[in-house]
Amino acid sequence: MKKILIATTKPFAPEAIKKIKKILSKANSEYNLELLENYTDRQNLLKAVADANALIVRSDKVDADVFEAAPKLQVVVRGGAGYDNVDLDSATKKGVVVMNTPGQNSNAVAELAIGLALFGLREKFSGKSGGEMRGRTLGLHGFGYVARNVFRIARAFGMKVIVYTRYSKGAAAAIGLKVTNSLEQLYEKSDIVSIHVPARGEHIKSVSYDVLKYLKDGAVVVNTARKEVINEPDLVRIMEEKPGIKYMSDITPDCEDVFQEKFEGRYFFTPKKAGAQTIEANINAGVAAVQQIVAFFENGDTTYQVNKK
Ligand code: 3PG
Repeated sequence: MKKILIATTKPFAPEAIKKIKKILSKANSEYNLELLENYTDRQNLLKAVADANALIVRSDKVDADVFEAAPKLQVVVRGGAGYDNVDLDSATKKGVVVMNTPGQNSNAVAELAIGLALFGLREKFSGKSGGEMRGRTLGLHGFGYVARNVFRIARAFGMKVIVYTRYSKGAAAAIGLKVTNSLEQLYEKSDIVSIHVPARGEHIKSVSYDVLKYLKDGAVVVNTARKEVINEPDLVRIMEEKPGIKYMSDITPDCEDVFQEKFEGRYFFTPKKAGAQTIEANINAGVAAVQQIVAFFENGDTTYQVNKK
């Protein structure tokens, strides 16, 4: 009997848990599912992983302490796309396979990105005269699953869409999407920039003054990715220099107090990261996570492993 622990400070919808239980009841092997939801004390997580063979998390921090406390752990699945919350080196050292569930919550995040763009353009529905999406240029910084969904929705709004991507040029060109030659060019040409790069490697703090200085005064920057991809002091600097720029984010920056003090009416931060917080996304990511765990235990399937050597 394998123990699968679902540890989520921000739980999956009950419908997703129901489906997960159904999948496990139909699996060939026997599984014991344990739920640790809404936990506030990390000690609870460290206790619960002690006899877990598999762990499903969302943005929950899975660091060296967790791996240390979990001698039986074989696989961790991050139900979602970004796995910057999992210490891959520690996992690899302990021989634990780490996976994500790419694409499963991308439509939900994309819909939020569009919503934030619209909310910003329309002056947060304050009654102040705003702008329309139609005819405006949307720049996609990155072209993964979320950005592709944003592109699909933006086209229906009648927007012009451009993209900067290093790794998905072929995919963008294949659907007739214009790829800019540089990130600077993307920021210069866009009325709205939507950020869709992971908090890894060269993307960390890649949205710096060198790029932000090209923004039009009046541009809206939408961030449904991670705060780590933005150089916050640089963002503050450009917002001081160009008083029309707005920042709409699903992630509250570390310097929230500066925004409160200086940029009244020009920013919005969701109270709790909400991009993937839909029933559909919870079902997609939760079900994929448990299916991947069953496939791992029963067939040794590591298709979505992110810590391959
Ligand atoms: C992701 O990386 O999949 C999204 O940012 C959603 O994260 P969440 O599961 O913490 O809401």
